[in-house]
Amino acid sequence: MIISLIGWKGGISKTTSAICLATLLARQGKTLLIDSDPNRSASLWARKGKLPFTTCTDNEAARELMSGGYQHTVIDTPARPGPDDVVAIARGADLLILPTTPDPLALSALVQLTQELPEGANYRCLVTISPPSPQTDGAEAIQALKRHGLPVFERAIRRRKEYIHAANEGRTVRGIAWHDWEAVWRELNDGKVG
Ligand SMILES: Nc1ncnc2c1ncn2[C@@H]1O[C@H](COP(=O)(O)OP(=O)(O)O)[C@@H](O)[C@H]1O
Ligand SMILES: [Mg+2]
Repeated sequence: MIISLIGWKGGISKTTSAICLATLLARQGKTLLIDSDPNRSASLWARKGKLPFTTCTDNEAARELMSGGYQHTVIDTPARPGPDDVVAIARGADLLILPTTPDPLALSALVQLTQELPEGANYRCLVTISPPSPQTDGAEAIQALKRHGLPVFERAIRRRKEYIHAANEGRTVRGIAWHDWEAVWRELNDGKVG
């Protein structure tokens, strides 16, 4: 399974989602996270070697894939991909995850991006950095995406300080924050993906 994270905006949790999805896939089989963003955020998170999967840059990916015997690959991509990049990223993945924060500008960028995807692309939107209850931004964003007819995870990823700690310590996400990812994993498996 090859999952790519893609989005026009920065700061929508692409890299964080790549780390969490690779963590989930690594429970099933040997997993490689390819960091193809020149900002190298995923590589920075992984540098302490505490994650349950291997991380490499796009430059190193060919060698790693030739020798590694990987079952799953997750690809973290840079913000603002051009139209050709969008098509290439879509062609190169079995599943695209399109993260978005629940604000109107991010949602509208997401809708535009879906219009650039090639026919038949397998993708699902994921609402991230959702403000805590009783705020309803996350649920409203999910409903808005559904009204647009877009496939979207029922679970929004909540905003938690834990992500900052996990990134600083170079480890996987724990606690309540991780519950959201377990829910995403169940949705993926219900859809016979992963
Ligand atoms: N669910 C979340 N809760 C709190 N902070 C988050 C969450 N997801 C991401 N962040 C933070 O938001 C910032 C942007 O996330 P990042 O994954 O780097 O986004 P992108 O790769 O889309 O630019 C980072 O500082 C990250 O720690
Ligand atoms: Mg990033």
